[in-house]
Amino acid sequence: LYRSQGHERTNSMGVNLANDLELKALADRINAAIQPWQARPLVPGAVPAGETVPVHFPADRRVRVGEWQAADAATVDKALANAVAAQPAWDAVPAAGRARILEHAADLLQARMAEFMALCTREAGKTLPDGVAEVREAIDFLRYYALQARRLFGQPEKLPGPTGESNELRLHGRGVFVCISPWNFPLAIFIGQVAAALAAGNSVIAKPAEQTTLTGFHAVRLLHEAGVPEDVLQFLPGDGATVGAALTRDPRVAGVAFTGSTETARAINRALAARDAAPIGILIAETGGQNAMIADSSALPEQLVKDTMSSAFGSAGQRCSAARVLFVQSDIADKVIDMLAGAMDELSVGDPGLLSTDVGPVIDADALATLQAHAERMNREARLIREVPLADHCAHGTFFAPRAYELKSLDQLEREVFGPVLHVIRYDAADLDRVIDQINATGYGLTLGIHSRIDDTVARIASRVKAGNCYVNRNMIGAVVGVQPFGGEGLSGTGPKAGGPHYLARFATERTLTINT
Ligand code: SER
Repeated sequence: LYRSQGHERTNSMGVNLANDLELKALADRINAAIQPWQARPLVPGAVPAGETVPVHFPADRRVRVGEWQAADAATVDKALANAVAAQPAWDAVPAAGRARILEHAADLLQARMAEFMALCTREAGKTLPDGVAEVREAIDFLRYYALQARRLFGQPEKLPGPTGESNELRLHGRGVFVCISPWNFPLAIFIGQVAAALAAGNSVIAKPAEQTTLTGFHAVRLLHEAGVPEDVLQFLPGDGATVGAALTRDPRVAGVAFTGSTETARAINRALAARDAAPIGILIAETGGQNAMIADSSALPEQLVKDTMSSAFGSAGQRCSAARVLFVQSDIADKVIDMLAGAMDELSVGDPGLLSTDVGPVIDADALATLQAHAERMNREARLIREVPLADHCAHGTFFAPRAYELKSLDQLEREVFGPVLHVIRYDAADLDRVIDQINATGYGLTLGIHSRIDDTVARIASRVKAGNCYVNRNMIGAVVGVQPFGGEGLSGTGPKAGGPHYLARFATERTLTINT
C-alpha cells in the first residue's frame, strides 16, 4: 500500500511520523491497543494480598486507565526466596543463551510497539514521538546488552601466567539484583536495568515506579514470553517506603540498580550498608542533575534556541538530561531571550496523543504542586521571560505551563526542578571560568551543553566542567544506546554508564581460576 502510493516505507522500527499514512496506521494500532490495563505482583507461589491502586490518565485525570495490586510483605519475602533459589541455574546458562532470550524480547517488543506506546501515553503522558523513542531505546538496550553479554561473558579471559600455570578470569552474576526504575522512562530504563542484570547472570526483582506500574508489568510479561524464567525475573509493584525499603534492607540482595532522586539513592546506600551480617551490597545509581547549557557570542542563535527548546521543554522537561539553566554571554543575551520567548509562543501544550502536541502533562499532582511552588518563588525572585498559557482542555490534567525565567545567579536555584522550566543567566565573557566553577559547585554532573564556534572555548569548558555527557552545538538530550553511554558523576550517580561498554561488568562478580598444570 505504502509503495503503491509512492511512499518509501521505512523498516518496522523506523516510524516516519511525517508520513500521513504511516502515522494514521500507527495511531490506529495505538488506539486499538488501549484497554483497561491491570497489573499485579509476578511472584511464583505467592498469593498477593496488597491494596489495589487506580491509575488515571495524566492529561485527563477523570479517565481511568487501569489498576494494579501492590505487593504485601509476604509476597516480597517469597520473591526473595524464589530469586535466591533460581539464580545459580540462570547463571549457569551460557551467555549466548541469555543473550538470545533478550534478543527475542527485542523482536517481540518491536512487533508490539503500538501497545507499549499506548501504555506510555496513557500511563505516563508521553507524546507520540517520545513514545516511539521510548520503545526504540528499550529495544536498543535489549540488543546492546545481549551483544555485550556475548562479548564479556561468552568465554573466560585467558591471562598470562608463569610457566606451568594457567590463569583465566570469568564473570558471573552477583546473585539477586533489585532494579528500581523511574517513571520518566517507564519502559526504556525499566528494561535497560533488568536486561543488564539478567544478561550478567543475576536473578532480578523489578520494582517499577508506582506511577508507571502498568508499563513495567507488561514489560515483564513480555520478557517471560521471550523465555526468561518466571522465578528469575519477578515483579514487585508498590511504594518505595514499603516494598523498596523491604528489598534494600534484606541480606539476600546482592545489588541494587536504581534510577531516581539523589536522596533515595542515599537512602538505598545506607540500607545496603546497614545490613551487618549480609554480603557487602553494590549500588548502581543514576540520579538527578542541575544541567547547564553555556552559549558564547559565537553561537548561532537560531540553532541555540532550537536546541535549548528541545532540551528544556521536550518530554515536558521530565528527562534527567534536560537543560535547566542556560548561561548566555551578555553580548547576545537580549537577542537570544527574545527569540526564546518567540519560540515558546509556538509551543503546543496538551493531549499527548495528538501529533501536534509539543509538551504533554507532568506525571502527577505531586510533581505539579512542586513545580507550582517553584514558580511562585521564581515569580517573586526572578524575571519571567515567558509563560505559555494553558488551553481550557488542560484543566482536567496535571499540566504545568512551560515557562522561562531570567535569574541573576545559579545560587537562586536550590535543587533540580523536574519539569518544563528554563532558567536563563547572563554572563560576561571574562567570567566564563566563574560560570564553570558555579556549575561544578552544584555537585551534580550529568549533562552539559555548549554552543560555541570557538574550538579553544569548547575545549576549555568541556575539560573543566565535571559532567558525564557533554554535547556541543546540538541539544543535550536523547543519548543513544551504545553511541552516547549515559550517566553522571558526583550527586548525579555512581556510574557505570547505561548503554556503555562497562555497564554489564558492574552487575557481575569476577572469579580468577589458576591451575598448576
Ligand atoms: N537517557 C536520557 C537522555 O539522554 C535521559 O534519561 O535524554
